[in-house]
Amino acid sequence: TEQYAVFGNPIAQSKSPFIHAEFAKQTMRDIDYQAILAPVDQFESTLRAFIDKGGKGANVTAPFKEQAFALCDELSELAQLAGAVNTLSFDKDGRIKGDNTDGVGLVNDLIYHFGFLLNKRILLVGAGGAARGCILPILQSGVKELVICNRTFSKAQHLAKLFADYGNVSAIDIEQLNMPFDIVINSTSAGLAGQLIELPSTIINSQTACYDMTYSKQVTLFNQWAQHCGAAKMADGLGMLVGQAAKSFSLWQGIMPDGKPIMLKLRQQMS
Ligand code: ATR
Repeated sequence: TEQYAVFGNPIAQSKSPFIHAEFAKQTMRDIDYQAILAPVDQFESTLRAFIDKGGKGANVTAPFKEQAFALCDELSELAQLAGAVNTLSFDKDGRIKGDNTDGVGLVNDLIYHFGFLLNKRILLVGAGGAARGCILPILQSGVKELVICNRTFSKAQHLAKLFADYGNVSAIDIEQLNMPFDIVINSTSAGLAGQLIELPSTIINSQTACYDMTYSKQVTLFNQWAQHCGAAKMADGLGMLVGQAAKSFSLWQGIMPDGKPIMLKLRQQMS
């Protein structure tokens, strides 16, 4: 049995053990996948203990994605630009390879819900770790334009500069926003704190599709707002969660599982 785990703090809420157990069943792999609570100041030692016990790979979630990035011996280009990793693979000598599958999970779910991103104009709201991890996959999916806005404008400017060589990406002050986009993506943590982001309704028209990276049983606050503004379609981040897991699983096992039936099961469990 191959050992995998997800590390986070808190971790009890993680759906990754369920998702990976389903993937293992689907692909008939003999895998054990645990949730491990690492003390906030002992991520590295907790991880190394897991590697020493023969762990093959791990997922990393909040608040350890940047720390995980820092201790990798090798990084994919995506992980390097994201500045954070959510997927680790260990070789026989205990060397750690880091990857970031969040952005691929997002882009695949955007395509699933809204169709191909070719020539789409996209607004990314937020400029934290979640936003940064997704910029390269979005730019590589054929979009016409990616615009980043954020409550703290300087952080949006920083990200736009960081990715300038990889596609048509720019930052805009929220105050300057006055035209509709094809897709608006919320990457902020505002909703998790029960807060609504202050955005002009002019970014949404009846053609606009809205995506909230967070998910919940009820329609998320951001998606409620989008609906109120007359958006054409809304989706929440449950598919992104399953999609990033599927990509991680494929990096470890060399086979891409089908996330759709697991997404349906998770949605049922939440209701
Ligand atoms: P994560 O890794 O989840 O992205 P983060 O790096 O702390 O977490 O980033 C949180 C993001 O949500 C930031 O873009 C933050 O805006 P600031 O850079 O201005 O702090 C955004 N955010 C959080 N609460 C918000 C709120 N109430 N309104 C608008 N933006 C908010």
